[in-house]
Amino acid sequence: MSAPKKLYIKTYGCQMNVYDSERMAEALGGKGYVETKTPDDADMILLNTCHIREKAAEKVYSELGRFKHLKAEKPDLKIGVAGCVAQAEGEEIIKRQPMVDLVVGPQSYHRLPAMEDAVRSGAKALDTDFPEDDKFDTLKTRAKGKRGPTAFLTVQEGCDKFCAFCVVPYTRGAEVSRPADRVIREAQELVEAGVKEITLLGQNVNAYHGHARGLAGLIWELDKIDGLERIRFTTSHPNDMDDALIEAHGTCDKLMPYLHLPVQSGSDRILKAMNRKHSGESYIRLIERIRAARPDLLLSGDFIVGFPGETEEDFEDTMSLIREVHYGQAYSFKYSTRPGTPAAEKPQLPEDVMNDRLQRLQALLREQQQQTQAAMVGREVKVLFEKAGRETGQMIGKSEYLHAVYAEAPADVLGQVRAVRIVEDSPNSLKGVLL
Ligand code: SAH
Ligand code: SF4
Ligand code: F3S
Repeated sequence: MSAPKKLYIKTYGCQMNVYDSERMAEALGGKGYVETKTPDDADMILLNTCHIREKAAEKVYSELGRFKHLKAEKPDLKIGVAGCVAQAEGEEIIKRQPMVDLVVGPQSYHRLPAMEDAVRSGAKALDTDFPEDDKFDTLKTRAKGKRGPTAFLTVQEGCDKFCAFCVVPYTRGAEVSRPADRVIREAQELVEAGVKEITLLGQNVNAYHGHARGLAGLIWELDKIDGLERIRFTTSHPNDMDDALIEAHGTCDKLMPYLHLPVQSGSDRILKAMNRKHSGESYIRLIERIRAARPDLLLSGDFIVGFPGETEEDFEDTMSLIREVHYGQAYSFKYSTRPGTPAAEKPQLPEDVMNDRLQRLQALLREQQQQTQAAMVGREVKVLFEKAGRETGQMIGKSEYLHAVYAEAPADVLGQVRAVRIVEDSPNSLKGVLL
């Protein structure tokens, strides 16, 4: 048998790309590839890319530049671009960077094995179709080998919402849900391989309709799997938070008390211009209902500052919404013009205005995050231990609220959910003692 070929995959962007990278590695595993942690000894390099903001896309080209010398030293090295930049730019990538051999979109990577044959024979391979055949039917079932205690599982892809700033509906296509029985089978395989916590993924995961009762229906099916201890889901859209899902937060023990529910802005004028189809007020009322179901829920969000036309008053509306909701965790971005989206046509705000607003917004969010973490001190939480810490005897895991928690503990806690008392908070993690 010939020595295995080495595959180096670098992943950018959201968790859905992390999931896709795993599946691409599995697909190429069938062609004799094993993963390597460095590009230096690779026979194939794949960049799984993100197109969400300008900087994310530009990074791909600068990274490709760095591989030039590797290609010069090893002419057999094949370089591929996958993910959302691949979908958005297609052939342009090969024109701009001719050393790229392969371009594959997020909906066609089940065809990678055939594309690999093509590039090995010296051809270029390009596939950015939205094919009729479902990639999940073609992909092999998940490998049986032992894996870590947490896993992502994509259940829904694509987006029909068309927020005025966002490329996702163009790069990922229309909303599609995987049938519940397939998802359940994949979840069972993951649990058999040692997984204790599954995060269900989708660009609009709560728009899932692969089960008659939507995402809540799927969650209740997964709840029945013995050995699966925790269920999470991300990312949700406010308009798809239905009653059954809200209720599940109060009644399903395996569903963790953490919710990422982006609002983007607190100004109704801007929300309208963003085509979000909800108001600041309706979002706040929604949060009240979710918190009534699960009072200790930790809420996370996404914010964009400097959307075209955003005034100081609009920005202040966002600040008040944040003060009213109080976030335990959040992500915030300067608006970034994306070619082809409706907002790209509008006059842009000056960079210094955006920078100033982002700083003020992040200071407020940081303060709330730190308050939330400080409030954990003295409390007992359940931690799923995932890995050894940097200091000997230290183990690291996540609480129900997705806080990183470290504690002195024996190595056999790895993969287990254990009770921990929080004794100290620091900016990015919590220190606990094993109970
Ligand atoms: N489907 C998810 C998130 C998709 S992208 C949702 O609807 O919430 C993740 C985040 O990136 C978005 O929530 C938004 O805050 C940010 N984002 C998307 N497009 C952007 C742009 N053009 N400029 C700045 N931030 C953007
Ligand atoms: Fe983008 Fe809006 Fe769809 Fe989220 S809901 S992926 S922000 S278009
Ligand atoms: Fe980026 Fe595509 Fe995800 S644009 S955020 S990798 S869906």
